Amino acid sequence: MFPFLAQGHIIPFLALAFQLEKTNKYTITFVNTKKNLQKLTSSLPLNSSINLLEIPFNSLDHNLPPDTENSDSIPYNLILNLLQASLSFKPYFRKLVSDLVGERNGQKPLYIITDMFFGWCAEIAQEFGVFHALFVGGAGFGFACFYSLWLNLPHQNTDSDEFLLPDFPEASKIHATQLSEFLKVADGTDSFSMILKKLMSLWFNVDGILFNTVEELDHLGPTYFRRKFGRPVWAIGPVISSNKSQAREQTHFGISLEMCKNWLDTKPCSSVVYVSFGSMNTIASSQMMELALALEASGKYFIWVVRPPLGFDINSEFKGNEWLPEGFEERIKISKQGLLVHSRAPQVDILSHKSVSAFLSHCGWNSVLESLSHGLPIMGWPMAAEQFYNVKLLEEEIGVCVEVARGKSCVVKHQEIVAKIELVMNGTEKGKEMKRKASSGLQQKLRWRRTIGGGGGEIKSEKAVALFEKLEHEELKPDSASWIS
Ligand SMILES: *[C@@H]1O[C@H](CO)[C@@H](O)[C@H](O)[C@H]1NC(C)=O
Ligand SMILES: *[C@@H]1O[C@H](CO)[C@@H](O)[C@H](O)[C@H]1NC(C)=O
Ligand SMILES: *[C@@H]1O[C@H](CO)[C@@H](O)[C@H](O)[C@H]1NC(C)=O
Repeated sequence: MFPFLAQGHIIPFLALAFQLEKTNKYTITFVNTKKNLQKLTSSLPLNSSINLLEIPFNSLDHNLPPDTENSDSIPYNLILNLLQASLSFKPYFRKLVSDLVGERNGQKPLYIITDMFFGWCAEIAQEFGVFHALFVGGAGFGFACFYSLWLNLPHQNTDSDEFLLPDFPEASKIHATQLSEFLKVADGTDSFSMILKKLMSLWFNVDGILFNTVEELDHLGPTYFRRKFGRPVWAIGPVISSNKSQAREQTHFGISLEMCKNWLDTKPCSSVVYVSFGSMNTIASSQMMELALALEASGKYFIWVVRPPLGFDINSEFKGNEWLPEGFEERIKISKQGLLVHSRAPQVDILSHKSVSAFLSHCGWNSVLESLSHGLPIMGWPMAAEQFYNVKLLEEEIGVCVEVARGKSCVVKHQEIVAKIELVMNGTEKGKEMKRKASSGLQQKLRWRRTIGGGGGEIKSEKAVALFEKLEHEELKPDSASWIS
């Protein structure tokens, strides 16, 4: 298994690896760069059987700052370099597969599962006669919109603020404000368009595409990709990790699990809003001010994962007295209304706590699945990539989300944010309906199973495992009709 160098991609790959490991049927080799593997080690239980295999990477070769090997440690515009660097792995990966086969006396791996940006691997897999699938950690709908937009750039052919996607009209209208900063200015010859088109056209060669999603809720996207690439597409989600953070992993959090839990324990059931924009994003300083004012004025308890605003080094120290309203930190500390966590929080542990009632999120797909798997409605504030269309799906189709703001440059007033928080958390009809859909109804639909054991709940999906077993027993004929379902 080989995910892209981004936390948001590594997380679902790891969750899938854990599920496959549990069957005791597979030897799993997880490939990534040195620093990412070091970090990963702390997420693995000590007795894990997953092998970690390093692939060489030197960030300086790709005009990246020294020792940067993960999208969450670079400014957003350098993601381009990281995408371009994707292709450089090819010869190393070939050697790695070749060595693996050699070590095992010619016995080849059963499957190679790589990131959506590593479609070039199909060629290597074919050379060795191994079944190769891409695993997309996101939603089908979100990525179908994303792909269609980058491929067609429909906003460049219209004066209107709203437009349909020429090869994906089922998605209904997209608004100009639902385009990321890069997409807004793309003209087809820019570096982003070029690399995305190149990387995604490689999907034509793969044996299958796996999405971390659920067909019952998200069928338009997978259908689009089947039509587009003529490849089998499987919705194997939700694949998510259990809510027990590994003790060793906690060194990466801006707060101890203990402190977080103690704070939540003092709050009433369903009274806390959790606010986090994921591992790569931050908001503008004016937006940060308004959000702070809104959280305070809402009267709700909150946990807020803060990072320096746009324009500041995301890894630098957080200056609360500059970026937050005067006296804010002091007040929420004394009143115990809010808890600020720097850079990273034990998110799944927080979302699984009974005091938490809603999630204000950028709607990266991992966060969405984690929220819904704990029955929590979502207040969406999409920032980048396919997040805008995740919100569209969640709000318009699934009915578990209300959009609070859009993008990193929109003007948002705290009164508007308060109104959305009250809509979701003050027991309005709409709020109750969202909660109902996010909890019982939705979970039944998803056939999510919880098995309680070892002090923590655990969410399993048998779909992923079932698929791999099916692949193993049937002839690996990707074009067989049975794959389509
Ligand atoms: C590791 O230990 C835990 C707890 O004893 C157990 O549930 C789990 O199955 C073990 N994992 C492996 C891969 O042996
Ligand atoms: C919503 O609930 C909060 C307390 O959680 C309260 O302070 C506020 O006045 C309520 N708003 C409305 C509109 O009822
Ligand atoms: C994990 O989630 C389950 C179910 O929501 C809960 O019962 C359990 O206490 C949680 N575990 C931790 C460590 O928070």
